[in-house]
Amino acid sequence: MSNYNSISVEHRGHVAVLTINRPEKLNSLSSEVHAEGIAALDEFRRDDNVRVVVITGAGEKAFIAGADISEFEGKTPVTQRAVFYERTLFNQIDLFPKPVIAMINGFCLGGGNELALACDLRVASDNAKFSQPEINLGIMPGGGGTQRLTRLIGEGRAMEMILSGDMIDAETAHRFGLVNHVFPLAELEAKTMELAEKIASKAPIALQLCKEAVKFASRSNLDEGLRREVDLFAIVFSTEDKQEGVSAFLEKRKPEFKGR
Ligand code: COA
Repeated sequence: MSNYNSISVEHRGHVAVLTINRPEKLNSLSSEVHAEGIAALDEFRRDDNVRVVVITGAGEKAFIAGADISEFEGKTPVTQRAVFYERTLFNQIDLFPKPVIAMINGFCLGGGNELALACDLRVASDNAKFSQPEINLGIMPGGGGTQRLTRLIGEGRAMEMILSGDMIDAETAHRFGLVNHVFPLAELEAKTMELAEKIASKAPIALQLCKEAVKFASRSNLDEGLRREVDLFAIVFSTEDKQEGVSAFLEKRKPEFKGR
């Protein structure tokens, strides 16, 4: 396994936990975090033992307080545009074949919120705070915020967050559908791991095809989406795990899925 500087990686059974490890800078997204995050996802993609990924930030104050603002100096429009057109951490999470859960333990701002939005599920601590504060710096979201936030919580709510730059608390984020669950900070890790392990116990190929189908819903019209679903359903129907799932049900035992 690679050695990382700004992130750390831990394998817990079939769950890989990726922690952004710059608590003194509120886990802001430096270019090193981007590069190492992409490298870690590449490792997880190839590792059949990894079935679910959890992404979090070190410490109890911040998940991710946005892009590393100290790196803004000297960036030109051309380099900034290239950064977001390249293989970004946001896109790699979005396109990652296995489920990814954001475990949000505090400030979830700007690029941090965009990273959480690229994940499949978001679980937050009760002290978490969310915003797209780019407007306060005289800029705008560039890592998918205007698109993914709008699709997830609707235009009116997304518009207010993006135009005002205001923070919302965890309960409001839950009400908006921005996060799936809110837990007391002390319980966040255990509850998130419970959810991750439950998902990791399911059939891996079915999980991947479910993710692909659900993601396709916001990228297609209904007819295209329904067709894609049927095609993926036909593929999953041909797997050994489907045979195992059906046999286990009929034999009244727990299935043992192998990802084949
Ligand atoms: N980029 C770079 N450094 C950051 C950062 C960011 N996005 N967010 C926080 N930090 C650094 C601070 O500069 C500070 O470093 P220092 O101790 O060397 O001065 C350290 O993290 C702690 O942050 P601090 O501002 O002192 O904590 P706070 O509790 O007073 O405030 C926030 C917390 C989150 C409200 C505040 O840090 C903030 O507004 N951060 C920027 C958020 C933002 O605009 N993100 C979007 C970028 S596009």
